[in-house]
Amino acid sequence: MGSTELEPLAVLLDTIRQSASASRDLKSLQQDVVTAISERLPHYDWVGFYMLDPSDPETLVLGPFAGEPTPHVRIPLDQGICGAAAASRATIVVEDVNADPRYLSCSIKTRSEIVVPIFVDGKVVGEIDIDSHAPAAFTDDDRDFLEKVARIVGNRMALSRT
Ligand code: SME
Repeated sequence: MGSTELEPLAVLLDTIRQSASASRDLKSLQQDVVTAISERLPHYDWVGFYMLDPSDPETLVLGPFAGEPTPHVRIPLDQGICGAAAASRATIVVEDVNADPRYLSCSIKTRSEIVVPIFVDGKVVGEIDIDSHAPAAFTDDDRDFLEKVARIVGNRMALSRT
């Protein structure tokens, strides 16, 4: 990917860093992130957070999101691409959701997905989930960008605990 295509992600990352230092709490930062990303990256058709339920750490709970409503408000760690990413502590990129038996459908239009865990003190606390209507929409640059966004959110959560 050439530098002209990389630039929007770098600019967006700066915006998100600024939101993180200005945000009054985690929810408002998450809301800023989903709004900024979904407005500026149109092929990111669904953008949302799933966070581990503090009273049931084997389950992810839907947080702020942009896109169509999803039936998957709570996802156990042994279900879905979302559960797999949190359980394996690793980013998962799915080029064709219809070819992945783990996939839980949110929209019939979704063709590809990326899920990036968020860590605090080395522990998974949640994740960022993105769906695209385009097949194989997520490149290494998207992955790098979203892992940086996840670090910004994790660092903000760690700060608010002190
Ligand atoms: N596709 C996800 C479920 C969440 S919705 O896409 C918003 C999964 O397979 O875990």
